[in-house]
Amino acid sequence: MAGSGGLPGGAGGSQGTVGGPGAALRASRAPLLFAALVLGAYCLCALPGRCPPAGRVPAPAPARAEPPRASRSPGAPGLPVASGSGRRRFPQALIVGVKKGGTRALLEFLRLHPDIRALGSEPHFFDRCYERGLAWYRSLMPRTLDGQITLEKTPSYFVTREAPRRIHSMSPATKLIVVVRNPVTRAISDYAQTLSKTPGLPSFGALAFRRGLGPVDTAWSAVRIGLYAQHLDNWLRHFPLSRFLFVSGERLVSDPAGELGRVQDFLGLKRVVTDKHFYFNATKGFPCLKKAQGSGRPHCLGKSKGRPHPRVPEAVVQRLRAFYRPFNRKFYQMTGQDFGWD
Ligand code: A3P
Repeated sequence: MAGSGGLPGGAGGSQGTVGGPGAALRASRAPLLFAALVLGAYCLCALPGRCPPAGRVPAPAPARAEPPRASRSPGAPGLPVASGSGRRRFPQALIVGVKKGGTRALLEFLRLHPDIRALGSEPHFFDRCYERGLAWYRSLMPRTLDGQITLEKTPSYFVTREAPRRIHSMSPATKLIVVVRNPVTRAISDYAQTLSKTPGLPSFGALAFRRGLGPVDTAWSAVRIGLYAQHLDNWLRHFPLSRFLFVSGERLVSDPAGELGRVQDFLGLKRVVTDKHFYFNATKGFPCLKKAQGSGRPHCLGKSKGRPHPRVPEAVVQRLRAFYRPFNRKFYQMTGQDFGWD
């Protein structure tokens, strides 16, 4: 039994044969130590992020170095404009959530619209960097002309308690877009992302439930983020429902042009991004762009978007689905939209 319970790769085996009882004890503790190390690394990753030092936050948006676009105001094609002109403004619209909902896809697709100028990276201003002040925030934004919309996306805003009040004090007219996805699939997607950075993580089921198959662990962020009704409740203290658009993460995959149509209407823009912009890439298994913004070549999202999910036992999925059901129903009532997750 020399290597049983030891670490793979021979280290445990050699300890078991030459080290006596002390070494055997050390070997039997090795898996525990390893698990503790993995959990420690995971906890560090899962801590709410801090605002990065000034050099590492998104640099103020440069003037666009592209050929002039053929549009100046919504729905006014044919009027060329000089690149790099315009002013930096606060965003009139924000994609505030949810993590792993499909927020990157939505942002990339919206950027095709000539009347949208979006920040490429996530500034995390209303959750992590608020103390830097509004002037700093505005300095990050791309320049826009009258009639163009400034947009940024930071999915953690949706679950940040202070974000609605802070955004309201920037402008109560801000339009808020939330991409939502079946909370069970979203949680598994979130877990898959963490697992890709922390190999050896405990199983999804072990993290989702306390004490084996005990109560659902709502303190685990992968579970907590999916309590959409609770988070929305906090937002509705500051903004009326009419200020929100809820995008179905599922339809964003099955019918991207349809969802993009709704978003363009909500933003008061002409429907410029339509089904002629998309094709289904069978290798990726997702819709991709026929021509990416800027390059003109076909473009799919990167490897971290649409990654394979680990297999989760059906019993775990069913328990979690049952857990979310009342929250989902409440969310459908609050939004007046049935997302069909149940
Ligand atoms: P998975 O990687 O779990 O499939 P976010 O950008 O908010 O982090 O969301 C990531 C999710 O966007 C992906 O989760 C994927 O399902 C979804 N998605 C939606 N449309 C997509 C597209 N056209 N290409 C790739 N992923 C897309």
